[in-house]
Amino acid sequence: MMRVRVVGAGALGMLLAASLSVRGTNVELVARSGEQAARLESEGLLLTDRDDAGEPLSVTARPRIFAADELASGGAAKHGPPDVVLLTVKQTAVTDDLARELADQLKPDSRLVCFQNGIGHTDVLSRHISAGQILIAVTTEGALRHSQRHVEHTGRGSTWLGSLEEGEATGSAAMQKKLQNLFQDAGFAVSLSNQINSKVWNKLMINAVINPLTAILQIPNGMLLKLPAAMPLMRGLYEEGAGLAKQLGIGLADDLWDQLLDVCRLTAANSSSMLQDIRARRRTELDAITGGLLAQARRIGMELPTHAAVYQLVRAIEQQWAIL
Ligand code: PAF
Repeated sequence: MMRVRVVGAGALGMLLAASLSVRGTNVELVARSGEQAARLESEGLLLTDRDDAGEPLSVTARPRIFAADELASGGAAKHGPPDVVLLTVKQTAVTDDLARELADQLKPDSRLVCFQNGIGHTDVLSRHISAGQILIAVTTEGALRHSQRHVEHTGRGSTWLGSLEEGEATGSAAMQKKLQNLFQDAGFAVSLSNQINSKVWNKLMINAVINPLTAILQIPNGMLLKLPAAMPLMRGLYEEGAGLAKQLGIGLADDLWDQLLDVCRLTAANSSSMLQDIRARRRTELDAITGGLLAQARRIGMELPTHAAVYQLVRAIEQQWAIL
């Protein structure tokens, strides 16, 4: 049986670990804090989902639990390598140190599946892990972490899976198919893509419009559509990003602008992840989203003035925390 290690016990990691585990997959969940690991170990992982009639249904899953420290300090060798690592930590947590630790956990035919928002993290990972072992997942599944052990599946989405090295390796194709089946058995809709970079950029563009604006204005996603002054800003961010993608030869969905408006409508009452981070005074994923676009633009000597302005505004909000 495939052995799956989920690294990152935030909302998405908990959702994946619990859903796979209750369907009988051999799952290990790695939590960053020893406290969370101890709690999950003793009480189990509580998943609230909806049944076919839309009624809430809660189940307790019991994946094996590891604390990240334990794996980093020699435990990885003791517990042996998984076949697949699902990396569900925030983009900001993808550092060279983490990439080295992950490299220690993988055997040559293991695969690492990255679920991060934004761009840039795969550059860090591929400094330590062979690019052929890295898969990218782009997901719109909704998950909300209520406590260290309780996660709710708040919205059914879809997931795209593809290889970092596009058009590559048959070994990877077989593994992708296995993963697709595994996820589908656990109730997730997964499609394979041999152009995953386009999917990454479609999501990046949506995030780069919604996240900084909702974080600066401190509003839920749907409110963006109700503020006439916000629309030219949204459109400006979108046009600049689309112009950059074109220059880089990255194909975006033809109806991406409509998709973006739909996301605002469908998640109208939700606070974007960046707004949630700002409220909790956590470092945001700004550098992977707006900063990711700006870095790509710099590389080819292009200016993105609206993205540059929202970048400075979000950064200024983060900088207030050191003063206030
Ligand atoms: O990052 C987020 O919050 C989400 O990806 C999205 C789609 C912008 C909506 O909240």
